[in-house]
Amino acid sequence: MLPIQTPTQNHIAGIWCDSRARFDVTDPATGNVVASVPDSDADDARRAADAAAAAFPAWSRRTARERAQILKRWHALIVASEADLARIISAEQGKPMHESVGEVRYGASYVEWFAEEATRICGDVVAEAVPGRKMLVLREPVGVVAAITPWNFPLAMIARKIAPALAAGCTVVAKPAEDTPLTALALVRLAEQAGLPGGVLNIVTASRENTPAVVDAWLADPRVRKITFTGSTPVGKHLARESAGTLKKLSLELGGNAPFIVFDDADLDAAVEGLMAAKFRNGGQTCVCPNRVYVQDAVHDAFVDKLAARVSALHVGPATEPAAQIGPMINARAVDKIERHVRDALRHGARVVAGGERVRTGDGPHYYAPTVLVDATPAMALAQEETFGPVAPVFRFSHEDEVVRDANDTPFGLAAYFYSRDVRRIWRVAQALETGIVGINEGALASEAAPFGGVKESGYGREGSRHGLDDYMHTKYLCQGQLG
Ligand code: SIN
Repeated sequence: MLPIQTPTQNHIAGIWCDSRARFDVTDPATGNVVASVPDSDADDARRAADAAAAAFPAWSRRTARERAQILKRWHALIVASEADLARIISAEQGKPMHESVGEVRYGASYVEWFAEEATRICGDVVAEAVPGRKMLVLREPVGVVAAITPWNFPLAMIARKIAPALAAGCTVVAKPAEDTPLTALALVRLAEQAGLPGGVLNIVTASRENTPAVVDAWLADPRVRKITFTGSTPVGKHLARESAGTLKKLSLELGGNAPFIVFDDADLDAAVEGLMAAKFRNGGQTCVCPNRVYVQDAVHDAFVDKLAARVSALHVGPATEPAAQIGPMINARAVDKIERHVRDALRHGARVVAGGERVRTGDGPHYYAPTVLVDATPAMALAQEETFGPVAPVFRFSHEDEVVRDANDTPFGLAAYFYSRDVRRIWRVAQALETGIVGINEGALASEAAPFGGVKESGYGREGSRHGLDDYMHTKYLCQGQLG
């Protein structure tokens, strides 16, 4: 059940409004409709961009402290609404309630962080290079930002895009994923209550069919100066190609294929716990989720035994069950892909040591058992593509050089993890891994204080940390002469 005040309309120029059509949002656990929201089109997208462009001059001229105060009020309202927001997340995304509560806190932490960062935006005064000339560097907001966000963290991902944009002085048009628009609408309602002026933050929802019309309208609009996107690499490449016409700034947080390496000098219990945290959070539906688990010969069997015991004990069930640790996958396509990867792995010689099949809970068709496979090889589809589900394929390896080569043998470069107690190896491997994020003896990487983002085909730009504002600002050089 949704909290009664959950908004179900677009928000454009400070007004809650409808589009010509609507589409249904369903609970992934049951397939039941939880609400319907506007199925926006190109006209709605253009009206949102009009509002954001009109609001930009006044918002960008506010002092950083004024913007920070509104963000702080927004943060306080998010924290105060934790229980309601968590219920909305679980209703439309399916993750267990304790994870939804964790997501609200995680998302709120970005709003607080960027409220604080707003007041620390600084330029430079350059040492005089020519007598009688002053040279200054200002940092200015880029303008209207289009934020296109995913379904796996319906609150945290939009918060970590909108908060730095607003902090920098940008205005925003946003489109949440079609599977999970309700959390984003609730967040915008709280921003409005925090005193954000009309037009500064606009949101339109759209179905899978209408999403291209909305996004294309923003791609073609020269007033939209930046696109920030989290999602698949093919869509990220499309956005990069199509935004070239107006040379927009881009932040792309795209797909991953994270390796998780356990060396024979690792603390095995810590490595199992780290893998449980990294792999099974949100049912394996995260971009930084370990997709390939490499375990060195000498500890392979002991590690697999410990892992299989922990994974077999995970409780699968709907968010409404307090004991649930693994919820439903987001939709039928997601669970079909997991099934295809496991079937392909078994055909290529993998063996199941835990799970390995759909779970028929009686609640709905989208559950997949937390799974451990051994004897995985690079020829398997799950070694090449992100499975985005609760499946841990274990690859055996002998030497450090070999595993680093295999770990890097992917077009993706978002996150990597490894466990070792040898300090020289730790530095060698951390530097050799071609990813934007490396977890060393740690499975839980996410933090508002850290720069999140990838290299290679996992994208560019960083979210969070003191670097997180850079993507929403440009640098202006002022040169004043005749001062001698
Ligand atoms: C993601 O899956 O894209 C984000 C995960 C995180 O913030 O840890």
